[in-house]
Amino acid sequence: MSATERRERIEFGDYQTPPDLAIAVCKRLVTLGIRPDIVVEPTCGMGSFVIAAAEAFPDAQHILGLERNADYLDSLRRRLIGVPNSARVELELADFFSTDWSSKLRSLRGSLLVLGNFPWVTNSAQAVIGGKNLPMKSNFQNHRGFDAISGKANFDISESMLLDTLRWFESRSGVLAMLAKTAVARKVLAHAERKSMDVRDAAVVRIDAKRHFGAAVDACLLVIRISEGPAGTGHDYTVFESLDDPTGHRVGHRMGLSIGDLEMFQKYSFMLGESPQKWRSGVKHDAAAVMELARTERGLENGKGDVCEIEPTYLFPLFKGSDVAGGGVWRQRYVLVTQRYVGEPTDGIRETAPRTWAYLVQHAEALDTRGSTVYAKNPRFSVFAVGGYAFRPWRVAICGLYKELRFRLVGPIEGCPVMFDDTVYYLSFDTEAEARETLARVTSQPALGLLSSLVFWDEKRPIKTSILNVLDWTRVDGPPRRLPSVQLDLNLARRQGAQQDAPRIDALGLAPGGAYPSSSSASEA
Ligand SMILES: C[S@@+](CC[C@H](N)C(=O)[O-])C[C@H]1O[C@@H](n2cnc3c(N)ncnc32)[C@H](O)[C@@H]1O
Repeated sequence: MSATERRERIEFGDYQTPPDLAIAVCKRLVTLGIRPDIVVEPTCGMGSFVIAAAEAFPDAQHILGLERNADYLDSLRRRLIGVPNSARVELELADFFSTDWSSKLRSLRGSLLVLGNFPWVTNSAQAVIGGKNLPMKSNFQNHRGFDAISGKANFDISESMLLDTLRWFESRSGVLAMLAKTAVARKVLAHAERKSMDVRDAAVVRIDAKRHFGAAVDACLLVIRISEGPAGTGHDYTVFESLDDPTGHRVGHRMGLSIGDLEMFQKYSFMLGESPQKWRSGVKHDAAAVMELARTERGLENGKGDVCEIEPTYLFPLFKGSDVAGGGVWRQRYVLVTQRYVGEPTDGIRETAPRTWAYLVQHAEALDTRGSTVYAKNPRFSVFAVGGYAFRPWRVAICGLYKELRFRLVGPIEGCPVMFDDTVYYLSFDTEAEARETLARVTSQPALGLLSSLVFWDEKRPIKTSILNVLDWTRVDGPPRRLPSVQLDLNLARRQGAQQDAPRIDALGLAPGGAYPSSSSASEA
């Protein structure tokens, strides 16, 4: 592929749907009882969906495909030769954003199916290549403040196209059935709910984007039925794990929360409340190359490879998110924590630890130019997410980036509390007994059941404090079960309705009798 072709592929989000996937999608729509009069493929490309629709919907009177790439339309015209009833197919060279859709659709009577696959590209990817394929109103999501002014908010072009397409159904009934990133599909469904659109039987059917498009992204077929007339069944929708999954599970909103599995939520909602202790995130410093150090055979090395001769006063053992998720032993990493609470003056370091002060001053340029304005407003060399809680010796921690509910007990190392990076969330305790008791409670089946009902695994950071903080682990019925570390196979749990089977237990690191795995490091996976 030439550089120009690569650039165009990015600008136009050009991932043509393989014919077998388009056929499977149309078959699924037929089994859902969808029988359209009109099919519109708004960015039809080489036409896999146009051809699949022509075969799957013999009663459709009109199949309309639009596309901006003339070569694709030529190739589609050739592919249509010999397809039965292809006279119903009309193709048009057009740009989605400048097409007058309302007058075009007004001339097409009957129940409408909008089918296809919009471009897979974000506005920021467009910005990198200088692409112009963008909605005219770039603030379609109603961003406020700086993001709106600078046009900085990142969004998928397909999201804007899908929202435009939903508007076509404001005065007519029909079905939207489009491939999309799952995160985009959820935003579109939330929009339909906000706008109180009369949606019935919406569904997200997961597809394997790696297999079909070679893309490492969570993707799905989004199906939204919109009707005129009496009210629909509300805005809950069903998530199917594949095009062959006949049952799926229900997703929706309750009590202001997004629920990834309504059945599971209902079963474990008795655990819902306020977390007895607020979950905190690890230390934020935005200067890993300076503030994070590793002990090597040369001594204490920073991220630039410099050996640093500093006092231990402000150094704490560090577990990064991958260490917490991976469950391994401490990797001799440290972090410089310059304050015990947010805003604490830092000039005292000059006296208490002169070599540390000299090190900070030596790297002042990197530290003074940290992006966020909060650094400028606070004492020099500040860090964030510190307070009394950050210095208690025992922790129950989880990494927000990993797609598992795996909690880990972490004790002090070298007599110091362990610090985490800001991808980790944790609770802290003065005693080991309290930490163990809490670990057992947050990894009990009801607690994991509630949490997993609230997590959307396709998100970049699926585990967040907003989810952890609604778990009241004191509500676990009966004596807490003692589990060292639990890895929840979500799909398995969902399929089994999280019945008596306990989630898969990963016994990493539980030494016999619950003793710690190493005497020097009291940390446990
Ligand atoms: C992800 S591909 C999918 C193509 C086709 N819908 C399919 O499912 O095979 C996106 C298509 O959108 C077309 N496209 C991108 N931007 C467009 C625009 N502004 N107007 C019309 N078509 C556009 C691209 O040329 C490409 O064929």
